[in-house]
Amino acid sequence: MKISDRIASFPRLDLVGAATPLQKLDRVSCMLGRDIYIKRDDTTPLAFGGNKLRKLEFLAADAQRLGADTLVTAGAIQSNHVRQTAAVAAQLGMRCHALLENPTDTTDIDYLHSGNRLLLDLFDAHGEPVAALHNADAQLQSLADRLRGEGHKPYVIPIGGSNPLGALGYVHAGLELAQQAKAMGISFSAVVLASGSAGTHGGLALALAHAMPETQVIGVTVSRTAEAQAPKVAALIDGTADLLDVEVPPELRLELWDEYFLPRYGEPNEATIDAIRLLARTEGVLLDPVYTGKAMAGLLDGVTHKRFDGNGPLLFLHTGGAPALFAYRDALRAHPI
Ligand SMILES: Cc1ncc(COP(=O)(O)O)c(C=O)c1O
Repeated sequence: MKISDRIASFPRLDLVGAATPLQKLDRVSCMLGRDIYIKRDDTTPLAFGGNKLRKLEFLAADAQRLGADTLVTAGAIQSNHVRQTAAVAAQLGMRCHALLENPTDTTDIDYLHSGNRLLLDLFDAHGEPVAALHNADAQLQSLADRLRGEGHKPYVIPIGGSNPLGALGYVHAGLELAQQAKAMGISFSAVVLASGSAGTHGGLALALAHAMPETQVIGVTVSRTAEAQAPKVAALIDGTADLLDVEVPPELRLELWDEYFLPRYGEPNEATIDAIRLLARTEGVLLDPVYTGKAMAGLLDGVTHKRFDGNGPLLFLHTGGAPALFAYRDALRAHPI
């Protein structure tokens, strides 16, 4: 059975609707002397959009199937994933509880209260500060146990929604992308995306290995070295293939670029800020300081230093995150005071 038939057999809520736009970045292409396209998963319809809605189509469907009344998850105070989970819970009439950590121990008032964190309150989500998510799965289970003891029916969603069921969202997205590329008559040399909790990367790599095998899939890491990230992505590819009962094509090559995430997760570097400014100034597109700014810095540097295998068009997967811009006001100010 084909991968598209396999995925169609899983329960899925329609949160994303129509295919997200695939557009050419004309001015960036002209500047780089190479055709650069962007897939606008930052425009998914709920609560300022982003990649997590695609995972939540499958995860929230599962939660409903099991009769849950509360979505339980975890992330950074400025997590886009938690924001989107809270918005989905609101839309479905469920509660949302989230463990929130401060990954850089910042005392910046914008980071602590604005951006995504502000939105959690609007969705009526319950955010619980934790010193660190050192063992997130166990921490989430103990929160779920507590909620169960209080009479709720929790459904645990791992950090980033990155388990095989969540990764189906990016298998689905990869098949959507392959259809769009075919309809537009474009053969991409590479797709570039941010690789964090790895469900987006794993799902997309699996789908494209089936549907666009000539295209490199390059994950730009946002928190780890390639050596530390590779087993996480590989485990999600294998787990997702098992869940779908499809093969992992032997040609699938895991590609990770880890030169762009320093100094650490949640802290932008100069190239991150430059990439954010460039896309805003030339295209009116908003990247973010934690994920897509770093991934775009990788794409730009990859073109400059001829890091891609082919010479054809490149695609940037825009996974969202712009609400976090308001939490990084100091880092982004043109003229810091
Ligand atoms: C804006 C944005 N881009 C990319 C990612 C990375 O996706 P994943 O965690 O599936 O690797 C995230 C994860 O939170 C995100 O919020």
